[in-house]
Amino acid sequence: MNNFELYNPTNYIFGKDQMEKLSTLIPKGAKVLVAYGGGSIKKNGIYDSVLKNLKDFEVTEFSGIEPNPHFETLEKAIAIVKEKKIDFLLAVGGGSVIDGVKFISAAVNYDGNPLEILQKRILIKENAMPFGTVLTLPATGSEMNSGAVVTIESTQEKLSFGGSALFPQFSICDPTVIASLPKRQIQNGIVDGFTHVMEQYLTYKHDAYLQDRIAEGILTTLLEIGPKVVEHPTDYHLASNYMWCCTMALNGLLNKGVPTDWTTHMIGHELTAMHGIDHARTLAIIGPHLYTVLFETKKEKLAQYGKRIFHLAGSDDEIAKEAINKTVEFYHLMGMDTKLSQYTDDYEKTADFIAKRFEERGWKAMGEKQNLTIEKVKQIVEMSY
Ligand code: NZQ
Ligand code: ZN
Repeated sequence: MNNFELYNPTNYIFGKDQMEKLSTLIPKGAKVLVAYGGGSIKKNGIYDSVLKNLKDFEVTEFSGIEPNPHFETLEKAIAIVKEKKIDFLLAVGGGSVIDGVKFISAAVNYDGNPLEILQKRILIKENAMPFGTVLTLPATGSEMNSGAVVTIESTQEKLSFGGSALFPQFSICDPTVIASLPKRQIQNGIVDGFTHVMEQYLTYKHDAYLQDRIAEGILTTLLEIGPKVVEHPTDYHLASNYMWCCTMALNGLLNKGVPTDWTTHMIGHELTAMHGIDHARTLAIIGPHLYTVLFETKKEKLAQYGKRIFHLAGSDDEIAKEAINKTVEFYHLMGMDTKLSQYTDDYEKTADFIAKRFEERGWKAMGEKQNLTIEKVKQIVEMSY
């Protein structure tokens, strides 16, 4: 097992009827910015519940943080935070709102052009404004991690950043919110969580047995409950397991002491930036082809995955190949289209464009063995057409 440090200061508050705690979690006398998205929280009662519990605070609202949050939108929020001397941020939403708030938190005291945080991937270790979250969509794990992804609309770049100062101080995670989610978002959430585990699991054989078993536990649970929770979003047993799986998939536990490979996400982010495809759907398009192109590197782990998760029999080669097919089957069952051409007619230049972008950024040797070249990235994207 590799050396590691495990630091996670987020107070994770899980379950029904937890919103009452909100007023005790924010420092007394704080001036609070409540940030949210396009208005789903006004339809499902979350907005009313949040505001009711903030009645003793001076509250400013900022709405309109879009999916795949835009730098240009967040700049407006930063100006308001400065003007109103806000000192605490509350994100009420899914990954996009939470990530948007992480950016505001990082940028508001940043000494320089905030664009640098994205383009130079500045690590935010201090001077971030404190923030909490009320999670409305289980998927990204952003409620308990210190990473975020923001899109620069003007350049069509979707870039990640983070740092130890960007953990939420608290996250209120009530699984009953799932009842109001559209099917498509639940499908996305399950597949995003599933892929987060795969990025930290599907590498090469190592001796971190516990991390493997935790990863396999999350994968098995998502396979079992995924299709059911889409059909029965009001079932609390299913909803609570879905929410906890997605948090556990990316709260920084699984990657401890093990190799990881985040290239499905790196390529996927480009598909969202270029074609506006939902984050999770880009992962379903790319992941299986990436496993195929890197078959020799990932074969042993694919075989372990096939045996332990799908109980497949045969030679390691056979099991590994079948395990990729089973993954695609699951994505289809979860309502994912897995070909780029099913999302856009304008797909033909995608591979060249992504290859050029990666070249410009110097991303030439990716993956757990640094053997994922730009040529292979092109091949993966072309296979996804
Ligand atoms: O904006 P509103 O009106 O709230 O509607 C949202 C949005 O349209 C809606 N929604 C959220 N909660 C709802 C609801 N609708 C009804 N009822 C509810 N309870 O769902 C839509 C999608 O929301 P979004 O926040 O975009 O979804 P998600 O949580 O999947 O977040 C995706 C973003 O997170 C990034 C992605 O790249 C993408 O930008 N990621 C962040 C990560 C992280 N911080 O660690 C890791 C991930 O890999 C991912 O990259
Ligand atoms: Zn993701």
